[in-house]
Amino acid sequence: MSRPELRLVLAISLDGRLAPAEGGAAQLGGAGDRQVLEEALAWADAVLLGAQTLRLHGSSCLIHRPELLAQRSAAGLAPQPLAIVVSRSGLLPATLPFFQQPLQRGLLLLDVPAFVAAATSLDGALQPEPSRQRSLPSPPSEGGPPSPGFARQWAGPDWNSALAQLKAAGLGRLVVLGGASLASSLLAENLLDELQLTLCPRLLGGPHSWLGAAARLDLASQSGWRLVEQRPLLGEELLVRYRRP
Ligand SMILES: NC(=O)c1ccc[n+]([C@@H]2O[C@H](COP(=O)([O-])OP(=O)(O)OC[C@H]3O[C@@H](n4cnc5c(N)ncnc54)[C@H](OP(=O)(O)O)[C@@H]3O)[C@@H](O)[C@H]2O)c1
Repeated sequence: MSRPELRLVLAISLDGRLAPAEGGAAQLGGAGDRQVLEEALAWADAVLLGAQTLRLHGSSCLIHRPELLAQRSAAGLAPQPLAIVVSRSGLLPATLPFFQQPLQRGLLLLDVPAFVAAATSLDGALQPEPSRQRSLPSPPSEGGPPSPGFARQWAGPDWNSALAQLKAAGLGRLVVLGGASLASSLLAENLLDELQLTLCPRLLGGPHSWLGAAARLDLASQSGWRLVEQRPLLGEELLVRYRRP
């Protein structure tokens, strides 16, 4: 494949919402979901995180389980997958705890007319500026340095170009951590290979379906998902994993 394999990983309510009606930083999953989330992270070379989810939650998910960390170490992988923030604006508060987390950070600027083809590896060398919104060059200059706080940076006009760059950078397995707008834009282009959903025993109502109301899908191409795993989890949660035929 000329692009990475993409697995969407979400915790959703029984009525398919990923956040309560009032919105905000949702924490739907319990201990069972945490377990399968970490398993997915252990599988991944990198995660994709929507900028709005990061603004609301402040940080990304980390692997804590020692056996998963040992498994990655034995495979020669970094303890945590690279955390790539997807954004158009590139505007992220520099005070987010994300910039202090023990992981490598990447930035993917999408929808920009020009793109930086080469990712610059300055791992750990860059620290965020003090508390102000970071504003990124628009459009980023060819081969320019990553933005403050990020070790690696990519930009492109669309998903196909961006994902090809990530694959060329050696990132073959991506976990997509949401939110709805990021998931919808990937589904709209048929780019998700797997849906890993934890069903949480609650009904939330409201507008925050995991597939955004504005999502434009080619429904004919969205049938035939194949069930590859179903696993009851702690706390009455249920893991289901569906893959493309
Ligand atoms: N239950 C769960 O498992 C789970 C997981 C994740 C999130 N959530 C919830 O989901 C909600 C946030 O979701 P959301 O849909 O509002 O936001 P989101 O998808 O997290 O982020 C949206 C932002 O991401 C960037 N983005 C997304 N798609 C893009 C594309 N195709 N091209 C360029 N940039 C793109 C844009 O950033 P810029 O604004 O910077 O341009 C956009 O405004 C929160 O309530 C959060 O708690 C739940």
